[in-house]
Amino acid sequence: MRERTFARNYLAKDGKSQITVRRATKIDIPILIRNFQKVANEGIYVWTEKVSKEQRRGIENRLDDHRTLMIVAEFAEQGKKKIIGNLTLATLGKSKKSFHVRNLSMSVIDGYRECGAGNAMMEYAIDWARKAIGVEKISLSVFSTNKRAIRLYEKFGFRIEGVLKKAFVIKGKYVDEIEMGLFVKNSS
Ligand SMILES: CC(C)(COP(=O)(O)OP(=O)(O)OC[C@H]1O[C@@H](n2cnc3c(N)ncnc32)[C@H](O)[C@@H]1OP(=O)(O)O)[C@@H](O)C(=O)NCCC(=O)NCCS
Repeated sequence: MRERTFARNYLAKDGKSQITVRRATKIDIPILIRNFQKVANEGIYVWTEKVSKEQRRGIENRLDDHRTLMIVAEFAEQGKKKIIGNLTLATLGKSKKSFHVRNLSMSVIDGYRECGAGNAMMEYAIDWARKAIGVEKISLSVFSTNKRAIRLYEKFGFRIEGVLKKAFVIKGKYVDEIEMGLFVKNSS
């Protein structure tokens, strides 16, 4: 039986290209790893430098975890669909104490940014979180230098909850870590 991927189509910012957002499947894992490594290689957006075996195993495990949402964005190009982005809402660990929270991580590969894929994945993910039983809050952390991501998160209602000063050094400069949160069932 074919796996259900709950695909939804969105219009890209050019007004004609199509972005499909759907659940990730096992077949997508090698592309997800490759894309994640590409973003890591840029050196300015994510903490990871080299995607480790543990991280790969983590992705595989999360795919099987019903509490986790793992989605991909596909861009239609010359009749073919290419995975250009991904977003994950994962539990913070195995403790029930934080089962009401999901941690958000997302990225779009270079060359496909600012086309609308980030917006499309956020819309899909927040809708899922609003409907998911027991999910109350989405949390995330972002580098203070990542203005584009911060703007996107604020657009979807995330608020800054804390700042960890000089948490990282990126390209020789101190960077703060910004903690953001969104309550999905009410505004508290
Ligand atoms: C952040 C990211 C996920 C956003 O996805 P995207 O597909 O580029 O986003 P979209 O095209 O849907 O929208 C980008 C938003 O950023 C805003 N933006 C663009 N350039 C900006 C800039 N220089 N400063 C502030 N905001 C900016 C736009 O206004 C846009 O919002 P809009 O829809 O209201 O116009 C993507 O750019 C990315 O993966 N970047 C590198 C990896 C990364 O930063 N991951 C997040 C780590 S926390």
